[in-house]
Amino acid sequence: MNINVKGSKDNYDIFIKNNLLDNLEDYLDANKNYIIIADDQIPNIYIEKVKKFCINNFIIRFPAGEKSKSIKQYSIIIDKLIDNLVKRDSVIIALGGGVTGDLAGFVASTFYRGIEYIQIPTSLLAQIDSSVGGKVAINSNSVKNAIGSFYPPKKVLIDPTTLTTLPKRHFNNGMAEMIKYGMIYSKDFFEEIKANNVLENIEYYIYKSLRIKKHFVESDEFDRSIRQILNFGHTFGHAYEAYYNYDKYLHGEAISLGMLEIVNEEIKPSLLEILIKYNLPTKDSTSKKVLIKLIKNDKKNTSNYLNLICVDAIGKGYIKKIKISEL
Ligand code: GLY
Repeated sequence: MNINVKGSKDNYDIFIKNNLLDNLEDYLDANKNYIIIADDQIPNIYIEKVKKFCINNFIIRFPAGEKSKSIKQYSIIIDKLIDNLVKRDSVIIALGGGVTGDLAGFVASTFYRGIEYIQIPTSLLAQIDSSVGGKVAINSNSVKNAIGSFYPPKKVLIDPTTLTTLPKRHFNNGMAEMIKYGMIYSKDFFEEIKANNVLENIEYYIYKSLRIKKHFVESDEFDRSIRQILNFGHTFGHAYEAYYNYDKYLHGEAISLGMLEIVNEEIKPSLLEILIKYNLPTKDSTSKKVLIKLIKNDKKNTSNYLNLICVDAIGKGYIKKIKISEL
């Protein structure tokens, strides 16, 4: 299954295929120099598969986790590229989850003013969300994704069989973003996820999720208007993540709680049912006052207004501009 994403500068293709990693010669150019960037938790088998098809390659590993999206880690990687005489026509391969895609993509966007990169996402969250759309970033000391750019990959290669080695908790973490797509864009998709075993037909569900993401990214590449609907659940979700210092909840888990904060009583039971099905959290004792204070102090809020993403009927996300003081 393929999807083409149109951008203002370039278009790029997403390929979704079981066992794609065993047929990389169909997607990579044997004459190019590749730099594989992966964290230290990625199974070696995936590294070996990619290496096999990149004759000229070298590998950069970094410690797994959000803390590696730092200026320090960015600088370490840049130094390694320079020490290894990487040239502008080399291609970076981001092999891994969301952190890897964001970090390696940001390196690619800035190294010698930009070199090509390919996303090979191996977590469900990266496969259905972060590897597509060109958002790449690292964190400042106090603000997540404070330093970044819009820099689309050359292509995105998705092998759903990598999900077989993903711990269940991380699979469910990605499911939160899939549920979000249903909530904001398609009641039918929401009902399908609720009724069926997604893992049994995962290629199809990744494809359907990315069709929805494509719609938002192509309509508003630079996140000025409707792409923000993809942030449904993120206002409170980010507050939960920050409150627990990014330790207690994975991103999708925090988003699950964030979605529950926003919906009305009419659709809440459906959302609860699907979150419970995928073992996602539905309760947290943090007081609303504390969360709202965190949202108010979010350094990314430049004005007195906030674009809150709302869903009053499943499948219909919209932006509601509110005064932060009204939250
Ligand atoms: N993950 C939300 C976006 O790409 O805009």
